[in-house]
Amino acid sequence: MKGIILAGGKGTRLYPMTKVISKQLLPIYDKPLIYYPLSTLMLAGIQEILIISTPNDIPMYRQLLDDGSRLGISISYAVQYEPKGLAEAFIIGEEFIGNDPVCLILGDNVFFGQYFTDILQKTKNELCGATIFGYAVKNPRDFGVVEFDKDYHVVSIEEKPEKPKSNYAVPGLYFYDNQVIGIAKNLTPSARGELEITDVNKAYLEKGQLKVSLLGRGMAWLDTGTPTGMMKASQFVENVQSRQGFYISCPEEIAWRRGFITTERLIELGQELAMTDYGKYLISLPEENF
Ligand code: DAU
Repeated sequence: MKGIILAGGKGTRLYPMTKVISKQLLPIYDKPLIYYPLSTLMLAGIQEILIISTPNDIPMYRQLLDDGSRLGISISYAVQYEPKGLAEAFIIGEEFIGNDPVCLILGDNVFFGQYFTDILQKTKNELCGATIFGYAVKNPRDFGVVEFDKDYHVVSIEEKPEKPKSNYAVPGLYFYDNQVIGIAKNLTPSARGELEITDVNKAYLEKGQLKVSLLGRGMAWLDTGTPTGMMKASQFVENVQSRQGFYISCPEEIAWRRGFITTERLIELGQELAMTDYGKYLISLPEENF
């Protein structure tokens, strides 16, 4: 399975913070926001990743992550010139996806919770058509919203509905089989001029090939859409990390634990950052008994 991180957009809702830099390069506590979705893909066991962003920001992502080989993965890059919608990722990424299934994650989506790795791997291994997720939120109107019948079968999906039919939002993490390329190419832009991911999901729903997997209340799907959301997400990460001693979404650690890189490489990566707690954490991992 291939992985795509969509990290473009104008970030206007976060101006002036994002006037000259992509939102996904800003920090959530101690690491750039893009480390979180990158970690999610790596936890799913995905090692071929495409980052899509603006012409301005691609050079900075390259500077940060290069070709991924230091993490034992492969990262390539593609430009989205204008934010024409999330579903455009499959058109831009057509060649990269080839004949494989694909997981799309939005560059600003942060997930954390027990069994998340199991959920990701099970979703990847059992994929048939499309699998998306549902997560209970207080403000469903701001998201794609999924409606269920009493047996939890999906009845409808709507993008930012005025009157949400449930409080289950669809997070920015989507697993699709290879049909998604054709589906994306057949979409027409919505009233706001975008190729909507919700329309992709509706197409799978109409074919009877959409699975919605509910994420329980023990999972954290954090909001990074506003300055307050970013600050609260940072506080969450700091709280968990300082309490447990484990880092949230540390790609170097995941690469090491999953066997993408050797212990020697992990230590080298840590030594480059040895002046920081982050670097010290990497160096300490092989010595700790966890
Ligand atoms: O976060 C989950 C939600 O993401 C879903 O529930 C919605 O169904 C989905 O439409 C999307 O809603 P948003 O309002 O969050 O989408 P937004 O336009 O803000 O874009 C999400 C991220 O993707 C943002 O960081 C910018 C980036 N983006 C967006 C567009 C439209 C791109 O890189 N390219 C684009 O063309």
